[in-house]
Amino acid sequence: MLKPGSTPGKTDWFVHDRFGLFIHWGIYSVAARHEWVKNYEKITDEEYRKYFDHFDPDLYVPEVWAKAAKDAGMKYAVITTKHHDGFCLWDSKLTDYKATNTPAKRDLLTPFVEAFRKEGIKIGLYYSLIDWHHPEFPIDGIHPQRDDEEFKKQAKDRDIKKYAEYLHGQVRELMTQFGKIDVLFFDFSYSQQEYLGMKGKGREDWQSEKLIKMIRELMPDVVINNRTEIPQDLYTPEQFQPSGWVHMDGKPVVWEVCQTLNGSWGYHRDSSGSFGDNYLAWKSSEMLIKMLIDTVSKGGNMILNVGPTARGEFEPKALERLSDIGEWMKLHSRSIYGATQSEFKTPQDHRFTQNGNRLYLHIFSWPFKHIHLDNMADKVEYAQLLNDGSEIKIEKHNMEKEHSSMSEKINSKTLTLVLPVQKPDVAVPVIELFLKQ
Ligand code: GLC
Repeated sequence: MLKPGSTPGKTDWFVHDRFGLFIHWGIYSVAARHEWVKNYEKITDEEYRKYFDHFDPDLYVPEVWAKAAKDAGMKYAVITTKHHDGFCLWDSKLTDYKATNTPAKRDLLTPFVEAFRKEGIKIGLYYSLIDWHHPEFPIDGIHPQRDDEEFKKQAKDRDIKKYAEYLHGQVRELMTQFGKIDVLFFDFSYSQQEYLGMKGKGREDWQSEKLIKMIRELMPDVVINNRTEIPQDLYTPEQFQPSGWVHMDGKPVVWEVCQTLNGSWGYHRDSSGSFGDNYLAWKSSEMLIKMLIDTVSKGGNMILNVGPTARGEFEPKALERLSDIGEWMKLHSRSIYGATQSEFKTPQDHRFTQNGNRLYLHIFSWPFKHIHLDNMADKVEYAQLLNDGSEIKIEKHNMEKEHSSMSEKINSKTLTLVLPVQKPDVAVPVIELFLKQ
């Protein structure tokens, strides 16, 4: 079975746990039209201020979030401590641009960390390397004021070194004031991009090497993603399903696909697809469950995002999906936790995951009566449906007795599973195959 090489942080728990919650929450939740709204609409700091002044999450009870995550089967949670707009959820000593100065009047990160830890969920912090509020962050092609000539003139002496100092100071706060942090998710580098002669930013700008060194001293085992442009523990593709195990330089790596419920990370009120914007359509629970299975079948983790509302709640559509996933996980998590890509080739419309001598066949499309598995006749000792532990009969083929005219595909090495006609009443049925040792 494929296994990635070791990395500076500790990833054992991470690759075991497989399923996490992403939270994008900040003052963009007030605008409620994507966390990039400041960029998309080229909003100035002055105009954006209204979201700061009206951020009042009076319904924020992180215990409720943690319970929903736990019931969904999520084992870790990563929250945006600061997103690209520069707004901070915690009481950073290095800025006034933080939750304590909004109508929220309190640090919103500490209660989150406490509530999730209490549920036994590991803690991840997302931190945006990009900052569209900081006065020393040089204007570039993704800055909201990228086309504002007057603004750019005034900002021409901005010093990225001073910004980097701020960034390092904030990360130090995050690594020292919230107890043990399990994941640190940086976002993101774009040094290869250029816009109207303005270069993107990356490793040199963030002083990533120094940054990583500091973090490793403070929190040696933390799982760090690759978006500082210094490879650490984790690769994080987003908004698509990789076609197989993610490789870098020809080697399999630890990876986590980042997915949304509805195309937007931050709360998006009108993301019903009603504007004909298919990108912002909601995914069904079944699709999300299949994405999780597909991910683990390729040796990866999936982190699924919820964008809470400005008042601090998960909206009903999000809760409904989490609860559907949880219902499936309650019966099937054995095929997810601790499982990985199998060495066996999966038949069409199925996904295999494997954990030791247990092989899990996920049936994406329920067929009539039979599933034929090539070259497995002598490999399996017992089979059962995972949702109710009921036996699935196995048929082997004696080609001398059988009419080989039935199908060219069936031969003496074929193992045939005999299914009930009706699909079990679960989103994705799974057959657990016990392999011979
Ligand atoms: C990004 C986006 C963003 C989101 C993130 C999640 O690169 O800029 O808004 O936070 O990916 O992975």
